[in-house]
Amino acid sequence: MNVSDSERAASTLCKNGFKLAPSTDSADVVIINTCSVREKAERKALRRVEEIARSRGAEAPLIGLMGCVAQLEGEALFDYAPSVGFVAGTGATERIPQLIRKAVAGKTFDLGERRSPFEGDLEPAFRHSARVAFVPIIEGCNKFCTYCIVPYSRGRERSRAATEILREVRSLLAQGFKEIHLIGQNVNSYRPKYDGGPEKFPGATPFSRLLRAVASTGMPRIKFTTSFPRDFHADIVKAIDENENLCNWVHLPVQSGSDRVLRAMRRGYKVVDFIRHVEAIKGARRRISLTSDIIVGFPGETREEFEDTRRLVERCGFEGLYIFKYSARRGTPAAKLADTVEESEKTDRFQSLEKLQASAQQKIYTDFLGAEVLVLAEGLSARSADDLTGHTTCNKVVNFRGGRDMVGKIVRVRVDELKSHSLYGEALGVL
Ligand code: 5AD
Ligand code: SF4
Repeated sequence: MNVSDSERAASTLCKNGFKLAPSTDSADVVIINTCSVREKAERKALRRVEEIARSRGAEAPLIGLMGCVAQLEGEALFDYAPSVGFVAGTGATERIPQLIRKAVAGKTFDLGERRSPFEGDLEPAFRHSARVAFVPIIEGCNKFCTYCIVPYSRGRERSRAATEILREVRSLLAQGFKEIHLIGQNVNSYRPKYDGGPEKFPGATPFSRLLRAVASTGMPRIKFTTSFPRDFHADIVKAIDENENLCNWVHLPVQSGSDRVLRAMRRGYKVVDFIRHVEAIKGARRRISLTSDIIVGFPGETREEFEDTRRLVERCGFEGLYIFKYSARRGTPAAKLADTVEESEKTDRFQSLEKLQASAQQKIYTDFLGAEVLVLAEGLSARSADDLTGHTTCNKVVNFRGGRDMVGKIVRVRVDELKSHSLYGEALGVL
């Protein structure tokens, strides 16, 4: 979502007469997009502000903060980071040009609402990739998991009209994009005020109806993230089964394998419910890659409860897992609980889970050895000038030997080597 907001900020600025500078060393204005989901990211953003100000000395640029930290801290940021000249909250992305003009005269901030969610076209040149586009479908969160700051920084769930989403997808197709990611904090909680647009399409929920409607545009590859377990309906799997262009990847964060911890986190489901979703996903006609998130060291998590998480991870066969050490966020209900798990114990649990996942993942990856996968060649590999890089339909990174003329195309690749988080192979031809 932050990458998408940065694209929108850059696009809006350029439409308003600003130009993108080659680096922070020469820019007149520097905007840092911030994340507040864990304390580390927040501290890093503030450090970066002072670093930039210091490195430019008397030539210091106007520095602005946008994103979640900006929204949560607002005006207080002028005290925490004295070099900040303006603060643009999560709803103010499209008003940054006006903010900059005001900030030239003195410090200023805007924590107002987004005028209408994600309206207007993005300049394609400001998308993070010329082949893969992010399409926001829902913003905000109503779930209030006890550890999470997002409902406070992004506000309540607001779904974008399906007609607007479909219009953007068709326009991306015409611009030559080959893959889109429908994005939102909880995509499968999609519930627009007016459920019009995809009437022709069946679906047990507005989200699965939207998936079928988006699939009908003919966009070659459609991915979506993140899904929320409580709102996960088996009809999503059915929609994937019916449409080849709905990609075989689901990101479904479980957070913990202990029912007591899940309750304390206020996730609204039990381990058995999650396993039911996993079984529906594993029962699909195509193999669907399942990835997840886990928090270790939530307040009060015992060693035995952590072992429950290890058992769940062993059972689910996740093809990728993001593991986080619990970080107390001011203003959330969990921050009032005693942070009982020592930092060293959090680190132990983190490493133990990471090791378990690495070995499980290697076993899963072995299935790919010698297999043919379809990769959207997104560009040249950063490591070697002879290699291209891209993702499979199941969202695995693949680096491969192939010609530069393949960039932007969907390529058949034979996998001949496994790395810890990616595959390596050789191009067999273009689809
Ligand atoms: N501490 C640690 N991890 C967190 N996440 C969200 N809030 C916190 C927190 N306070 C993790 C969750 C979520 C992912 C995006 O970040 O696992 O799924
Ligand atoms: Fe945070 Fe929970 Fe909402 Fe995800 S569902 S954004 S973890 S409150």
